[in-house]
Amino acid sequence: MNRKLIAGNWKMNASLAGNTALVQAVLAGIGDAACDAAVCVPAPYLAQVQGLLAGSTLALGAQDVSSHEAGAYTGEVSAAMLREFGVRYAIVGHSERRQYHGEDDAVVAEKARQALAAGITPIVCVGETLAQRESGATEEVVKRQMAAVIHTNGHCISEIVVAYEPVWAIGTGKTASPEQAQQVHAVLRTQIKAATSQPGRVRILYGGSMNAANAAQLLAQPDIDGGLIGGASLKPADFLSIISAASNAA
Ligand code: PGA
Repeated sequence: MNRKLIAGNWKMNASLAGNTALVQAVLAGIGDAACDAAVCVPAPYLAQVQGLLAGSTLALGAQDVSSHEAGAYTGEVSAAMLREFGVRYAIVGHSERRQYHGEDDAVVAEKARQALAAGITPIVCVGETLAQRESGATEEVVKRQMAAVIHTNGHCISEIVVAYEPVWAIGTGKTASPEQAQQVHAVLRTQIKAATSQPGRVRILYGGSMNAANAAQLLAQPDIDGGLIGGASLKPADFLSIISAASNAA
């Protein structure tokens, strides 16, 4: 079984001084965690946080990557640029990117492809809105989002990380129950198994109001291989509790 992965998503919350305090507090408490851990930081701070993480077990991640390789794409950051700063993971297709920046399934799939080509592990986010859940469309939505990534990336999908993030649970304090999350993870697992000969390499994270209090129960589910943590990743004690819950569930 894969080691679990706990990835913090700071979103647009950071400052030079705040990053130093946060990373130092996490590193002071992380010890020999028996899981993998990462922080996905805003692009301007990659160099700073790369320096802060040097020699530690905490990996560096980005929150997005361009769907293009290089060229006239003002404002974009390429996978090769991220790689130069030691980035190991890049979140792609976060629901906030899909919702506020018009990213569709094809763009998300291209972003995953660019990341993989540069040796960066994409954390591909999928998830349904509340309206989609209430109309019974959850499975259809996540399978469609996943299918685009599989279609574009072929056998390389054995190298991705998937994050199931129900949109209604993100930043709302409403977590999917462990059973609700497990049910969708199992659907994604089956889809991934059908697409690669090495499905065991693919970790499927849960994201959406995961916190110190609910992490252990979620991480105990058979198909939940870690978490993508927003709000709680900004609080060192909470982030460390989740890392420790993942270590104990390993
Ligand atoms: P949250 O965010 O933990 O604050 O709900 C998770 C995410 O959006 O990745």
